[in-house]
Amino acid sequence: MEFSHRPVLLNETLEALRIRPEGVYIDGTAGGAGHSAEIARRLTTGRLIAVDKDPDAVAAASERLSCFPQAAVVREDFRNIRALWASLSLPPVDGVLLDLGVSSHQLDCAERGFSYRNDAPLDMRMSRQGMTAADVVNGYSAGELIRVLREYGEERFAPRIARAIEERRKTKPFETTGELAETIRDAIPAAARREGGHPAKRSFQALRIEVNGELDALAAALEDAFSILAPGGRLAVITFHSLEDRMVKKAFAEYTKGCICPPEFPVCVCGRTPRGKLVTGKPVTASPEELEENRRSHSAKLRCIEKLKD
Ligand SMILES: C[S@@+](CC[C@H](N)C(=O)[O-])C[C@H]1O[C@@H](n2cnc3c(N)ncnc32)[C@H](O)[C@@H]1O
Ligand SMILES: [Zn+2]
Repeated sequence: MEFSHRPVLLNETLEALRIRPEGVYIDGTAGGAGHSAEIARRLTTGRLIAVDKDPDAVAAASERLSCFPQAAVVREDFRNIRALWASLSLPPVDGVLLDLGVSSHQLDCAERGFSYRNDAPLDMRMSRQGMTAADVVNGYSAGELIRVLREYGEERFAPRIARAIEERRKTKPFETTGELAETIRDAIPAAARREGGHPAKRSFQALRIEVNGELDALAAALEDAFSILAPGGRLAVITFHSLEDRMVKKAFAEYTKGCICPPEFPVCVCGRTPRGKLVTGKPVTASPEELEENRRSHSAKLRCIEKLKD
């Protein structure tokens, strides 16, 4: 199957990262190498390390980047970005990109189990390792399921869905996306089923975030990605969910914070100065043209920060 994923906010991201031809860059979410290829194209003596934890993405990115000797592709979780950087003996880097979430390829590939539109094994693992969505759905308590559905899916019918899952798995554990999608649809009141797209959309998103530990990975990666930047280097993050965006916004606010002395102090005694400055004040969102062409771009938000000092 051909790897189909249209990069979101491509020009905006390249502009925010301000690619230097001799710079060193890490793309932590290579996917189909949409962003990576454009970064690599701008390098002369520079280097690009394109990282993904999905073996399919690694294969696709390797092929797409094979014409760029400046680029190397690595299968790794971006939560280990600092260890990876150290193992490659890279200098402090000029830019890091994280374009979060799933690729269109992962969603379109039925047997990966990300989509409620196809009937396939309930998997959803980007890395193809560890706990599957079936393990979550069959193994979590109703309370844990409610937390996941509420927190990661903002699903207002979380308790009804969790109870329906609990009931159904008593007779037979869930095996496929179709079985789960049907159970979720039946658990949602008929009047509400007509609102906001497919009734299982929010629950599937929530399970995917849980299965892949997406928020934990982001929390672990933000500080480490910032820490490996050279002064003047930039970290750009594209989020697709308000929880992700809030985490990025908060982390960046922390890096840009200067003196923390109480306002009544006549002079600063903390000596703290900002470690970074924002490249994007408000998050950058898709242009009207991109919104029209790419559905995924609707929830995309780009934030970028520049490191001032270590
Ligand atoms: C939105 S896609 C990136 C698309 C890419 N920028 C492009 O234009 O082709 C996100 C990619 O990040 C990968 N990914 C998500 N979480 C990851 C993690 N913690 N470590 C490494 N890769 C991750 C996914 O497997 C997926 O391929
Ligand atoms: Zn101070």
